[in-house]
Amino acid sequence: MKNPKNILISGAGSGIGRALAVAYSKPNVNLFLCGRNLEKLQATKILCEELKANVLLEIADVCDEVAMKNWIEKIEENHELDLVIANAGISAGTAGGLESFAQVKKIFSTNLNGVLNLIHPAIEKMKERRSGQIALVSSLAGFRGLPSSPAYSASKSAVRVYGEALRGNLGKIGIAVNLICPGYIKTPMTDVNEFPMPFLMAPEKCAQIVKRGLEQNKSRIAFPFPLYFVVWLATLLSTKITDPIFAKLPGKKSL
Ligand SMILES: NC(=O)c1ccc[n+]([C@@H]2O[C@H](COP(=O)([O-])OP(=O)(O)OC[C@H]3O[C@@H](n4cnc5c(N)ncnc54)[C@H](OP(=O)(O)O)[C@@H]3O)[C@@H](O)[C@H]2O)c1
Repeated sequence: MKNPKNILISGAGSGIGRALAVAYSKPNVNLFLCGRNLEKLQATKILCEELKANVLLEIADVCDEVAMKNWIEKIEENHELDLVIANAGISAGTAGGLESFAQVKKIFSTNLNGVLNLIHPAIEKMKERRSGQIALVSSLAGFRGLPSSPAYSASKSAVRVYGEALRGNLGKIGIAVNLICPGYIKTPMTDVNEFPMPFLMAPEKCAQIVKRGLEQNKSRIAFPFPLYFVVWLATLLSTKITDPIFAKLPGKKSL
C-alpha cells in the first residue's frame, strides 16, 4: 500500500520496529505503537514527532489477547487502520544447553500467539471495509529448523507459513498480507550475539527495504539476497548434507 495514513507497529520501542516507525513518519500520518517499556517507546515517539507524525503509545504485552483486542477496538473508534505490522518478538537459543520448556513456551507465546492476538482483531475490522494491509515479521531463521534456536526458528516458520496461507484468503477480499523475512539486523536482539553475523544490516536500511516491499505488495520481503539464497539452497539440499552443518552453528544465549 502506498502512503498508509493509520499505521500500527508492535514492538516499536527499539530495533526494527523503531526504524519502521521513523521510516513511516511524516505529517498527517498517525502511528499507533506498542511495547512493554514506556521509556523505549517514548524515545521512539520523540524521533517520529520530529518528523511531524502523530504518535499514540500503548503499553501492552502482545501475549495479552484481551489487551490487544481492546487496543485495536479503541483505535478503530476514530481511525481506520491501513497497515498493521506485527513486529514484536523475542529470541533465544541453545548456547546454555538444550532449550528449557519455559523458554520454548515464552518464545511461542510472544512470536506466534502475540502475532495472532494482534492481527485477528485488526483483520475483523479490515474485513468490514475490504481493505488494509497486514505485515508479519518472520525471519530468514524461519526457513529451516535451527538446532541453535529451535523455538525461535519454529515460531518464525509458523508465522511465515500462516501468513502465506492468510494471503491467499484475505487477498480475495482486498486485504494484503506480506511476510517480512530479514537476515541479521543490528538491534538489541542481535547485539547480545557472540558469533559472527554475515551481512549484518542497519535497522534503518532494513526499514527502507520493508517499506518499499510493502508499497509494492511483495508477498515475501526476504533480504539480504546472498543470505536468503544460502537459506533457500539449504532447504533444497539433502538433510544428510545440511544437518551436520547446522549442528555446528553457534547457539544464541538462552533467556
Ligand atoms: N534483529 C534481527 O536480526 C532480526 C532478524 C529477523 C527477524 N527479526 C525479528 O524482528 C522483530 C524485531 O526484532 P528486533 O531485532 O528489532 O529486536 P528488538 O530491538 O529486541 O525489538 C523487539 C521489540 O519487541 C518488543 N517486545 C518483545 N516482547 C514483547 C511483548 N511480549 N509485547 C510487546 N512488545 C514486545 C520489545 O519491546 P518491549 O521490551 O518494550 O516490550 C522490543 O522493542 C522480531 O520479531 C524479530 O524476531 C529480527
